[in-house]
Amino acid sequence: MRPNGPATDTEAATQARRRRTFAVISHPDAGKSTLTEALALHAQAITEAGHINGKAGRRHTVSDWMSMEQARGISISSASLQLTYRDTVLNLVDTPGHADFSEDTYRVLAAVDAAIMLVDAAKGLEAQTMKLFAVCKHRGIPIITVINKWDRPGRDPLELMDEITERTGLTPTPLTWPVGIAGDFRGVIDRSEGSYDAFTATAGGAQIAPEEHMDAEQAAAREGEAWITAQEESELLEASGAQHEQETFLAGVSTPVLFAAAVKNFGVRRLLDTLVELAPPATPRPDHAGNPRPVEAPFSAMVFKLQTGMNTAHRDRVAFVRVCSGVFERGMVVTTARTGRPFATKYAQQAFGQGRDGVDTAYPGDVVGLVNAAALSIGDTIYTGEPVEFPPLPTFAPEHFAVARAVDIGRYKQFRKGITQLEAEGVVQVLRSNLRGDQAPVLAAVGPMQFEVAEHRMADEFSSPVRLETLGYTLARRTDAESAQVLANERGVEVLHRTDGELLALFADQWRMRAVQRNHPDLTLEALIAA
Ligand code: G4P
Repeated sequence: MRPNGPATDTEAATQARRRRTFAVISHPDAGKSTLTEALALHAQAITEAGHINGKAGRRHTVSDWMSMEQARGISISSASLQLTYRDTVLNLVDTPGHADFSEDTYRVLAAVDAAIMLVDAAKGLEAQTMKLFAVCKHRGIPIITVINKWDRPGRDPLELMDEITERTGLTPTPLTWPVGIAGDFRGVIDRSEGSYDAFTATAGGAQIAPEEHMDAEQAAAREGEAWITAQEESELLEASGAQHEQETFLAGVSTPVLFAAAVKNFGVRRLLDTLVELAPPATPRPDHAGNPRPVEAPFSAMVFKLQTGMNTAHRDRVAFVRVCSGVFERGMVVTTARTGRPFATKYAQQAFGQGRDGVDTAYPGDVVGLVNAAALSIGDTIYTGEPVEFPPLPTFAPEHFAVARAVDIGRYKQFRKGITQLEAEGVVQVLRSNLRGDQAPVLAAVGPMQFEVAEHRMADEFSSPVRLETLGYTLARRTDAESAQVLANERGVEVLHRTDGELLALFADQWRMRAVQRNHPDLTLEALIAA
């Protein structure tokens, strides 16, 4: 193993500059999986995207992959995909966001430096996109917007820009503008050059779509009316000041916009170029005290995702970390900031991508899966050298609540152990009160899927099956001890403790909360980070 000497420091800084670590935020069905495959195709991580056709096909692929990994006796997870494009390393961190939409999805955003907001051209900004956007905004993550499915009938592009302005507060600054209405996608204007990229579809979108680059005159001759309309719209945008500015983009004030049809591979190359040219590299992360830790400092990383039970025979736990500084080398012994204990990184793996072999070296911005990570919790910092700790990961506003009880009261010890463990891993939040007692904690979640995971693992892993009784609350607010006393006398309100010390007041809905507020205008009721 190499010491963390000067040569390594320079290497970390150089490699950090080459990294772009990002996630795709979208609503189910907007085309995230299709776009991921298209990006991989363009970055030549795989040669053909066509073998994975539609959801059924994908599921098949994933399950094959799981059984393959299980046969090898190691745990896996789809945490990130690493691609190389124009000598830049792109780390696409997966936001689990389909049926299994949960708090996990939001925590992933703590590991990235930028996000792609993927929008369905016909549907505009949808519910889950808005929720994930709120988290990005809270963290100040720069956002690149991609309007997808332009090959299908959809909305008017200017109308979509208005919607972005109104609903996100971001100024959309299109880098490209579509030629041909939604459903008749011919190509895009490059707005900075005034030139035209014409697309040609390939059979089934299996190969990179050929693009023809031409000047305005050639474009006008080729596309006629469609070109003139696109040009007029682009000029309209210019008049309203919708030009890209790197500073406002990085500050999360404006968002460059691209038009694409992921399924046909249209606009995908331009997205890769935009990531390379505009997205920020792995930059210094502020530590607990708010001091940015230079990327060339000794190794440090942050645990943003835990995965257990992929392999029931091993009960193994994989901790996914994002490298924040220095160079990670397989086998290095790191310190866990929370406990001060050493942790040996004997087995490290990259989740998927170009070969899922063990990772030997990783740099700031990269994601590494550490196996045998039972000692690590969500939000943990690991490091070498001088102690460092990054701020804890945010906990999101839960919207689902259920009381958990051990089915077999004789197994209370296992019950308690399991609940504590699931809480440490961030599978669910756990709320308690004197009124309910220790035997009936309230589980709180962002998505109901989290309950299913908790139920399954309590039975399967901790041998203490639980009965969950759903509570009729949908809204949580942070309160204080004084307000809690007032709230205790109100109907339809309950106050519980969370382990991080917060007191949460639960309400059936916002109308109930407003009614309580009308009677007691001075109550402390603060919004939690919206999810
Ligand atoms: P998700 O991961 O965001 O949930 O979306 P996914 O990629 O699974 O895409 C959802 C559906 O939208 C898929 O259709 C996919 O083919 C389609 N799609 C994605 N991008 C585009 C695009 O640019 N244009 C068009 N026209 N369709 C797109 P499906 O019916 O679920 O599956 P399939 O059998 O058609 O592949």
